[in-house]
Amino acid sequence: MTTSGLSGITAGSSAISTVGKAGFGLTYRGYSIKDLATLSTFEEVAYLLIYGSLPGQKQLDAYKKKLIGLRSLPDALKTLLEAMPASTHPMDVLRTMTSFLGTLEPEGEKGRTAVSIGDRLTASFGSVLAYWYRFHLRNERIDTESDEDTVAGHFLSLLTGKPADPLKRDALDATLILYAEHEFNASTFTARVITSTLSDTYSAVAGAIGALRGPLHGGANEAAMELVSSFDSPQDAEKSLLNMLQARRLIMGFGHRVYKNGDPRSPIVKDWARRLSEAAGNRTYYDISERVEQVMMREKGMFPNLDFYAATAYHMCGIPTAMFTPVFVIARTSGWVAHVIEQRADNKLIRPLSEYTGPKPRAYVSVADRG
Ligand code: COA
Repeated sequence: MTTSGLSGITAGSSAISTVGKAGFGLTYRGYSIKDLATLSTFEEVAYLLIYGSLPGQKQLDAYKKKLIGLRSLPDALKTLLEAMPASTHPMDVLRTMTSFLGTLEPEGEKGRTAVSIGDRLTASFGSVLAYWYRFHLRNERIDTESDEDTVAGHFLSLLTGKPADPLKRDALDATLILYAEHEFNASTFTARVITSTLSDTYSAVAGAIGALRGPLHGGANEAAMELVSSFDSPQDAEKSLLNMLQARRLIMGFGHRVYKNGDPRSPIVKDWARRLSEAAGNRTYYDISERVEQVMMREKGMFPNLDFYAATAYHMCGIPTAMFTPVFVIARTSGWVAHVIEQRADNKLIRPLSEYTGPKPRAYVSVADRG
């Protein structure tokens, strides 16, 4: 029996997160996503995912200090970032940079493990994005250190060259928590398939970035921004959306393979989108988004997924649209690496079967006789 897109198939077991099949809603190692997103910080959650338990204060302080110490970029990597065309999509920047760092700081050398590589990538992705962005778009060669002690604050401050605004930093921090882990989604499954061949952590993360890039997966937050910003007003959004639905167009940021009655992460990010919009005195995209949500519910019975309001929230944080999915990478690396570790702990090559639909066996005909 085959299932289109492996829909509904349980393809392995995991103790890292559940999307609610056990009736508890989305949880990371047993903790509800709502509690984590409202009460904890991204560093606590990354630690929880990679190291297996929530850190105590001392462990958290040491972990944050460790991440701060892993932000700098080797000169060879800076040279590579400068050599990439300004038109490169930042997801390609991250994918390429991950591969390259794997040659400069290979796994297995100098005691490097999946855990230490996860920390290194989580700490330095923000530096890479900001270095590439400021070099190509503002003609600046920046120092990749900052005074911020969080991953979210570091990224925002390097991107803008100013101390991070506390509300924007907290909003970004909360969305990093929401994006950090999601069971056997396409990019995580990619990472597990790569890991199952006994390949290295950089390859697993680079492959996962490739999978995340597409608009049916992580790329949906950028596509949602394009959609929302294409409307002038809520009225325009309603009218245009009805035409799009009539034409059976896919509405980005809606629908989910697993959640059919609502994405538990969406109300949390929606609230951040509202708070940021109100703080800026500009509810244009928020109001348009709400109207899109209402029309999708009325016409299709569909709920927004995390990516839909993440678009408005990130826009109001001043993050360029092309950086939305890369921000998802910063968050999800902790989830991917947790899965690399879990896959290795009880590995079996992932190699399913396919149902053959090709021609029956037939005789080979030489080129000369093929006509
Ligand atoms: N806009 C309009 N219609 C949608 C839709 C959307 N975003 N998502 C699903 N549908 C429709 C499908 O066309 C299908 O209609 P049909 O039965 O008339 O053919 C029906 O809803 C069922 O969808 P299905 O393709 O079975 O869902 P799926 O589980 O395969 O797909 C997604 C899930 C996420 C790939 C899909 O909803 C989608 O492409 N969403 C937009 C991209 C997105 O936001 N991705 C981020 C996911 S977190």
